[in-house]
Amino acid sequence: MPFYHKLGKIPPKRHTQFKKPNGDFYYEQLFGTIGFDGMYTNSYHEQRPTQVKEIRKQYSVAPKIAKENSIQSYRFRGFQVKPETDYLDSRKVVLTNSDCSIILAAPKTSIKDYFYKNTDADELIFIHKGTGKLRTMLGNLDFKYGDYLLVPRGIIYKIDFDTEDNRLFIVESKRPIYTPKRYRNWFGQLLEHSPFCERDLRQPQELETYNESGDFLIKIKKQDDIFEMVYASHPFDVVGYDGYNYPYAFSIHDFEPITGRIHQPPPVHQTFETDAFVVCSFVPRLYDYHPLSVPAPYNHSNIDSDEVLYYVDGDFMSRNDIDAGHISLHPAGIPHGPHPGAMERSIGKVKTDELAVMVDTFKPLKVTEEALKIADEEYFKSWLE
Ligand SMILES: [Fe+2]
Repeated sequence: MPFYHKLGKIPPKRHTQFKKPNGDFYYEQLFGTIGFDGMYTNSYHEQRPTQVKEIRKQYSVAPKIAKENSIQSYRFRGFQVKPETDYLDSRKVVLTNSDCSIILAAPKTSIKDYFYKNTDADELIFIHKGTGKLRTMLGNLDFKYGDYLLVPRGIIYKIDFDTEDNRLFIVESKRPIYTPKRYRNWFGQLLEHSPFCERDLRQPQELETYNESGDFLIKIKKQDDIFEMVYASHPFDVVGYDGYNYPYAFSIHDFEPITGRIHQPPPVHQTFETDAFVVCSFVPRLYDYHPLSVPAPYNHSNIDSDEVLYYVDGDFMSRNDIDAGHISLHPAGIPHGPHPGAMERSIGKVKTDELAVMVDTFKPLKVTEEALKIADEEYFKSWLE
């Protein structure tokens, strides 16, 4: 998170004695990223956060790759991913490379009898359907349709859903996910030309604190294995923290689109960045207003990045036969563009209601077996007249 946040009780000076009313100590934890160079948080715990009791199981959740190398454009019908009861079981990796994984999930129930921690990757969870509460060791975030939830690696969490009807689009990133640097000044404050500002980024305001001992199962993902570790103290035992490393939420509906007289390129939609991919938000907006403007995008050759678009809502002007929940994959190396008739259809239109999330990766993505289960193998011919 690009700015400072404080929640709960903390001592006036870091790394000093901090005592409970009964005279016992609270236990401090420095939780840093990128060694000691990145964003960090100092949290204060009822019990020592190191009390491992048991390592029960270890099993792989590595995605099964169907196509290591592909130059075929694809459409994947995301809503054909079957709902599953358990949150972790429901997560299906459809595209992956050494930097990131793109995951679809339709979990039916909240996490009940375990906690989850991803040590491999930051998680960007886009809520397509569903409402509920993300509960973390560093505070809770309510979520609803259109929210991005950013969970930095290592944050222990649970997720509560209000109903069984949930659809998530998740990006796991081995590189830290930040807001774009070009929208921040030298102190990190979001600038006037940024399409969102600090008020749009929701920080945790509610902290759940339990001082409990017992058997607490944390499923920890490391190197694509899940380790089932039992801790002797409740993972949500933080009485307070401060710093920059904590989960936050941002609604796609709060993204203020940048428009122009002629077609604006995808970077104006950029919402998040890493050094391995970008995430862009395509939101309802006025179209280009030059008298001879062509609102549909031009054909473009993304020669060195794979383009993944996740269609959320509205009418997708440049594509024929695309519905909510679909993903298009336009791989690096070949040009793509509007479908036949879409360019002509766009002329004279004044606005779009489209809502979509785009992930452009700098390394090619591998197509998984889960992806092929929901793939349209004919999509690559859809530009033929
Ligand atoms: Fe494109």
